Amino acid sequence: MKKIIVSSFVLFMSLAGVAHAAGDAIAGKDKAAACVGCHGVDGNSMVPTFPNLAGQGEKYIAKQIADFKAMTTRKDDTMVGMSAMLATNQDALDVGAYFAAQKLNSTAPVDESKLALGREIYKGGNLQTGIPACQGCHGPTGAGNSAAGYPQLGGQFVEYLMKQLHAFKDGSRSNDDRAMMRDVMGRMTEAELEAVAHYIASLK
Ligand code: HEC
Ligand code: HEC
Repeated sequence: MKKIIVSSFVLFMSLAGVAHAAGDAIAGKDKAAACVGCHGVDGNSMVPTFPNLAGQGEKYIAKQIADFKAMTTRKDDTMVGMSAMLATNQDALDVGAYFAAQKLNSTAPVDESKLALGREIYKGGNLQTGIPACQGCHGPTGAGNSAAGYPQLGGQFVEYLMKQLHAFKDGSRSNDDRAMMRDVMGRMTEAELEAVAHYIASLK
């Protein structure tokens, strides 16, 4: 009897542990000290090749840190070194929680002439060429789905977005589960990619 009680207590504790495997935004603020020079104090970047992290999902941020460290499915010379400063997955979750709690205040410039086509693709995809609506996963306002790990896109810089869309298209970024993004990008023309990037940047 005692053994059953002990083992169910252990089971309860390990379930509780899983439920609480989350970042601590307060601890994350200190750990983010090395990040803010590029990503901005509150995660709002001033430089179009440095992505905004304000409001980005905690789980998504921690996954990218792990992927940069692994140097297999997402490679970036700068971020390999930076990710190494976060020793554990808990550190990455804490930093993720800090940036997730910041308010996005995007300064991304937008070319208005591209918004109509971009909106069409983002909201409805392209039936002829089999492009799904981006909003199905990234949300109607570009806020993403933090529980599912689908990133927030709204207000991101066009330069950064184009680099990622091309990287999925040519396969140099392959950290998308079940090739969710590579499948879509392979079906898109350059004009469509650019239009959708401007539309995304306008969602802020
Ligand atoms: C010297 C500038 C610099 C510093 C400092 C820096 N980063 Fe980055 N970060 C970048 C660049 C550039 C990219 C885009 C990489 C790419 O093009 O794929 C990036 C990308 C990221 C991404 C991916 C964002 C996304 O939307 O997928 C995350 C997460 C990230 N950085 C977190 C951090 C954290 C956490 C730190 C601090 C430990 C940090 N960065 C420090 C330059 C920097
Ligand atoms: C079936 C779901 C799904 C659909 C549909 C989808 N995406 Fe994604 N997208 C993802 C996931 C998941 C990731 C993150 C992969 C990872 O790094 O873990 C992602 C990542 C991205 C990124 C990189 C974000 C960053 O911060 O680096 C961009 C940009 C993007 N998607 C744009 C689009 C556009 C544009 C469309 C529509 C043409 C689209 N997505 C449709 C699931 C989807």
